[in-house]
Amino acid sequence: MTHRNCAADRSQFIDVSIFTLSRRGFLGAGAAALALMPGRRALGAAGSDIRLVPGPAHAPLLGAGAPTTPVWAYNGAVPGPEIRLRQGTPLRVEVENGLGQDTTIHWHGLRLPNAMDGVPYVTQEPIPPGGRFVYQFTPPDAGTFFYHPHVRGSEQQGRGLYGALIVEEAEPPQVDREALWVIDDWRLGEDGTIDDSFGNGMDMSHAGRRGNVATLNGRDSSAFSVRAGERLRLRLINTANARIFALRFEGHRPVVIALDGQPVAPYEAEGAGIVLPPAGRADLILDMVGDPGASFAVTDDYSNRNAYKFLDLVYDEAPPLRSSPLDMPVALAANPLPEPDLDHARRHEIVLAGGAMGSMRSAILNGEELGIRELAGLGKVWALNGIAAHQVNMPPLLTFERGRTQVLALRNDTAFPHPMHLHGFSFQVISRNGRPNPRREWLDTVLLERDETAELAFVADNPGDWLFHCHILEHMEAGMNAVFRVL
Ligand code: C2O
Ligand code: CU
Repeated sequence: MTHRNCAADRSQFIDVSIFTLSRRGFLGAGAAALALMPGRRALGAAGSDIRLVPGPAHAPLLGAGAPTTPVWAYNGAVPGPEIRLRQGTPLRVEVENGLGQDTTIHWHGLRLPNAMDGVPYVTQEPIPPGGRFVYQFTPPDAGTFFYHPHVRGSEQQGRGLYGALIVEEAEPPQVDREALWVIDDWRLGEDGTIDDSFGNGMDMSHAGRRGNVATLNGRDSSAFSVRAGERLRLRLINTANARIFALRFEGHRPVVIALDGQPVAPYEAEGAGIVLPPAGRADLILDMVGDPGASFAVTDDYSNRNAYKFLDLVYDEAPPLRSSPLDMPVALAANPLPEPDLDHARRHEIVLAGGAMGSMRSAILNGEELGIRELAGLGKVWALNGIAAHQVNMPPLLTFERGRTQVLALRNDTAFPHPMHLHGFSFQVISRNGRPNPRREWLDTVLLERDETAELAFVADNPGDWLFHCHILEHMEAGMNAVFRVL
């Protein structure tokens, strides 16, 4: 799937964290908390009339026997309630802000009316403490999506505010079981509390806030129970602030059927494994080909030097469900995305610059050209086309004619990877590093490694002001953020 640079190259700039991520959590949290999948936590019969209350809560991140962690959560749980509905059915979500600060909810990856996009001062006023806001829209696409705040993202999402949004296909592929893996990492202190160094200069200017404890569905990731012979559909969502995961399934051959909620022609993940940048999603078909009682590691080796076991697939003792893997089609029907017309497209170059070890010397902040030192002093060290964003409601960096195909030619001129996210649209990745991209996958967040380029194409069919930003939340807050206007 996603292109990656060679390992040696990458490790030079990835391992800046002072923490070493451990699979079990460094507290040595007693007995293994089995990462049991919640079933479908559908809310309401239709799953479509929902109330979300973000507020303080406690979460058993480190499992039974370890102290719980004070977090911020939707309806008291991390992840928040799983919202599930059928493609084409309306969703209504009433939000009541139980936090001591403003918030909003952004529906990541959904093509929706601009006023429902959840960006403070751009698409709505922020929801004040105790305030309410109703989001209402009908998701046009089936797929795996998620929701999170768009105010002080580094801290609000970093403290646990996120949840899955699943839009079901009319005819999903037949599997024995569906599981949702919401994966995250946390920076916890020795007492199990969240390290509150959000937005520090080191994280902002380097690889973002990466944690020291990885979780699966809000629990220290350790084991996932499976049965021999079963076919799983696994929905993966990376809700980490900054950690890029590359999951490798020992002894298994996951088949990718969707990325960022959009179907792909099914393929086996080779080489790099399943690469999930922050906000990235993947839908996998996984045939459990191991023997009863066996166990297989799922590792994250995005950073080779810091590879670790994310969890074990643990087979129970039950006899295999079937003797050979199912021979059923797994391809998903395409979503109703408008096809780009490349012959009549408008092309825009976008250069990503700044950060530690970068070559950016100055950038424009709030209309004024500042040197990199001054920018660093103001906590704005990243820029898009020479402009460091000082707030979200800025004049648009680009304006698009409605209905016209746009090609964004991105170039990462920094020493760090950046998962670039466009609100309100899925885009087709038409080339990478100057070569046509045969898979032409539709994404809403594309990972650009150091020095990489990519061309993205989409039809600007949805009017409004849409954010385009790095989904390493510290980078977004430190300037790597822009508004695109569709007129
Ligand atoms: Cu998950 Cu502005 O995005
Ligand atoms: Cu970035």
